[in-house]
Amino acid sequence: MGAINQDIDYHKKALSSLKDPSLLIHDAFIGGQWVATDKKFDVYEPSTGMVLGQVADCDLPDFQKAIQSAYDAQIKFFASTTGTSRGALLRKWHDLIIANSDDIGTILCLENGKTLAEAKGEVIYAASFISWFAEEATRSYGVTIPSSVPHTTLMTIREPVGVCGIITPWNFPAAMITRKIGPALAAGCSVVIKPPSETPYTCLALTKLAVQAGLPAATIQVCPTKNRQAATEIATNPLVKKISFTGSTAVGKMLANLATGTLKKVSLELGGNAPFIVFDDADIDLAVEGAMFCKFRCSGQTCVCANRIYVQRGAAKAFVAKLVQRVSALKMGAGLNSDTTQGPLVNKSAVDKVREHVSDAVAKGAKIEVGGKAPDSPGFFFEPTVLSGATPDMIVSNDETFGPLAPVFEFDTEEDAIRLANNTEFGLAGYFYSRDVSRVMRVAQRMQVGMVGVNTGKISAAEAPFGGVKESGYGKEGSLYGLAEYQNIKSITIGNLDAGSQ
Ligand code: SIN
Repeated sequence: MGAINQDIDYHKKALSSLKDPSLLIHDAFIGGQWVATDKKFDVYEPSTGMVLGQVADCDLPDFQKAIQSAYDAQIKFFASTTGTSRGALLRKWHDLIIANSDDIGTILCLENGKTLAEAKGEVIYAASFISWFAEEATRSYGVTIPSSVPHTTLMTIREPVGVCGIITPWNFPAAMITRKIGPALAAGCSVVIKPPSETPYTCLALTKLAVQAGLPAATIQVCPTKNRQAATEIATNPLVKKISFTGSTAVGKMLANLATGTLKKVSLELGGNAPFIVFDDADIDLAVEGAMFCKFRCSGQTCVCANRIYVQRGAAKAFVAKLVQRVSALKMGAGLNSDTTQGPLVNKSAVDKVREHVSDAVAKGAKIEVGGKAPDSPGFFFEPTVLSGATPDMIVSNDETFGPLAPVFEFDTEEDAIRLANNTEFGLAGYFYSRDVSRVMRVAQRMQVGMVGVNTGKISAAEAPFGGVKESGYGKEGSLYGLAEYQNIKSITIGNLDAGSQ
């Protein structure tokens, strides 16, 4: 895996190389203005643990002002635009994101830690939600319904829900914002965003480009904060009609409870504990490729990461050997270094969690095949790790590691694999590898998850419905379903159409 090559001043050099330095913004965006609050919080660069910068720390009055301003703006926005014109604005925003993808990728890489290649890839992925919903904005259809009452026409129209509260995580600082606000703006809503306090800079840069694209400034409000109490205003203020949250199941449940007070619409994309099953009829090389992608992308910090790798006994030895070979070749380091393939984790507690999962598994009989420890270096690194001999009593079987740890469990029959895979309260994503077409359909139907990857570890795309079942949340993002999450259906009944016909 090699030593970590770090230059602790590298983030300063990287920031001074931005083509457009004005994209690095430290202020909140409230009422169409950049606002420098008195209070600030530190944002860290995870590969060194050093402070990257200080960002506005919004208080309750800032949230209240942002929500009121978003409310006023939304009414004008919807009244003065059509789906086509909103689509055109989103298209311009998309083009600006692409034109500035090097700078946004650098900012994202610095605050999140993922490699520059992954960071730029995320910016392109994030932009794809904007172009997708630029198109969907024009396809917001109602229906006409044959009425049971004579001389009556019944129809439906779709209307924006109003102000949307958007709360997003640090693991995808760009894509989780655009996957939510793309459809919100396409529908004619306005948004109040609480970006993650670990990675607010990407959101602020995207907001600047949205305004540059011509989106009415007050339709997007951004309130960075470390003050959880202030942020809960998003879930309780009666002017907010919908909240969309991506993050932990515990916080999702808390927000859903708060939102009940004013009966807001709620979408929740929460924790996962994804099973990754390799049957003995699988193409093992393909399965290893898929595991590398879906386990080690973002250093294992995605909600759809494989958390439990189940391999049928006959294939286990070959699978582990090939996986270990690939993992041994990974190179940890700062995201901007060109030879880095594994960035740091987001903070110290993320490293501590992986360490705890490894030591619990080892104490219960697992074997470390590669990795297994945090290197003695600055920053928040943990070696990419493969464990064999994992068993259901280990923490890693029940709790999402959110780090670069691949525990391999062995199983005997298809029935066992399905039972093990479904034995969790979570139901976000699941993966399996098989060349048997009957098995493919059988297992895909029986997995209790919102998204299944068959013979692939890549399931995320703007056109693919994203979301889970069970305690992984509800609501679908992206896809042909994503727009409706930000709309109300209104029925219009026109009666007595024969009146005055004599
Ligand atoms: C997530 O981790 O929540 C998102 C992952 C993705 O979009 O692929």
